[in-house]
Amino acid sequence: MTSEQAALPRPPVRQQVGYLRRLFKDPQPVLDELRAAYGPVCGLGFGPVRLAVVGDPAALKQLFATPVGSFRWGHKFNVLGFVVGDGSMIVSDGADHKRRRSSVQAAFSRRRLNGWIPTIVEQTDAAIDRLPLAADGSASTIDLYPHVRMVVLQVAIRSLFGEHLAARAEEIGARFQRPQDYLEAPAVRQLPHPFPFTTRAKVRADRRALDAIIDTEIDHRRRHPSDDPKEVLSALVQRGDLSDAEIRDQVVTLIGAGYDTTAASLSWMLWRTALEPDVWARLRAEADEVFGPVGDDRVPRDHELLGRLGCAGRVMRETLRLHPAGALSPREAAVDLEIGGYIVQKGTLVLWSAHLAGRDPGVWPDPLRFDPDRFGDLSPEQQAVADEAWVPFGRGARNCIGFALAQMELTLMISRLAQRLDVTPGTAAVPRPVGMVVNRPTGGVPMAVTRRTA
Ligand code: HEM
Repeated sequence: MTSEQAALPRPPVRQQVGYLRRLFKDPQPVLDELRAAYGPVCGLGFGPVRLAVVGDPAALKQLFATPVGSFRWGHKFNVLGFVVGDGSMIVSDGADHKRRRSSVQAAFSRRRLNGWIPTIVEQTDAAIDRLPLAADGSASTIDLYPHVRMVVLQVAIRSLFGEHLAARAEEIGARFQRPQDYLEAPAVRQLPHPFPFTTRAKVRADRRALDAIIDTEIDHRRRHPSDDPKEVLSALVQRGDLSDAEIRDQVVTLIGAGYDTTAASLSWMLWRTALEPDVWARLRAEADEVFGPVGDDRVPRDHELLGRLGCAGRVMRETLRLHPAGALSPREAAVDLEIGGYIVQKGTLVLWSAHLAGRDPGVWPDPLRFDPDRFGDLSPEQQAVADEAWVPFGRGARNCIGFALAQMELTLMISRLAQRLDVTPGTAAVPRPVGMVVNRPTGGVPMAVTRRTA
């Protein structure tokens, strides 16, 4: 530390409780307020509860470049461990984290991802075919959110763990529901206790049921070794450097971390594009060109497909800029640090914010405007500035392991949805966000839906 480094600017003590309570319930407006009053890097909390909110793109660049050992993810505030298990990479540090993350890393290689393109297109088509649409072509008002969630879950399980486990996707989705709701509940309701018949006890039972499903799969893999290079569970079983408990925790982690995040992002993409008919029409024209006519079996499956879906890619980037699935991501400072010119003491919970960086007025002209074209034709300098402030998946050694899969899914799915459906939202207003762990649109995605007519 040097004498030039300042203490974090922070609200007065009398306002702290209010800020903390609201931040963990409804983070986005509180983050915007904090930035307006104290800047994009500020402190919160008092006594043993010390927090630092970091949303300035330059400070984030510094944070992501800080050696990973300067932070801890297995800290006392990380409630995720209750659901994903103490052996999950998401709540691990040091050598354990490295071993657990590297055990599944190969599943996310570019070559393997390209192999998932047909699965994603086929599953999206199947979900569209299953929509309860009126036979006479009149519009049906449908909440698309549960449909989007189910297709994302199907894709994640099928592409990572194969057909055998995908056959149980609905059961798995149902077993994830209560744990996910529980993680969104106020912190006081998440305090550890052993009492039976409570929500916490039921969440524990859900996790045991998920474990039983995964154990059956592990057993199946041991009895029928697979040489499918895309299949993560077989690879985990064959590697032999993870215990069965650790394998279960990584499986639950990959499904849990990739499920609602991707579904919420696709929901925001549907809202944003349905509210801009011009963007929907451009997505459709692009999809017609790249995929060919609807019903054409010769849907291209090559990896160049994604490069040709430029409009869908820009829609994905612009939506995640405005609506990152995690408005805040936590890590604990394991040592005293300097971030953005401020002192951050050891033990501080650092909440870095993709929401604040994505709306930084110094980087993004007219930041609240939805404008996918802002990502077109950037000079290398502009690209570098935009990259620094676009961090929905984090960066560095602890970035999102599923970032490329998620981007691929979102790009392909919005493109196929725009090609095959006409959608009209019931309101002209973008919904308020809800969710501390996963930021999703309040009220889901209710829209008047018909099969494409023209
Ligand atoms: C739009 C979708 C997604 C978003 C916005 C997202 C975002 C994030 C963020 C912000 C982090 C934390 C980074 C940090 O703490 O610095 C993260 C971590 C993680 N994500 Fe994602 N994610 C998405 C989809 C996925 C998918 C599809 C998977 C897997 C199938 C996945 C698996 C993980 C895992 C395992 C971690 C923890 C990595 C580690 O601790 O080493 N995510 N994600």
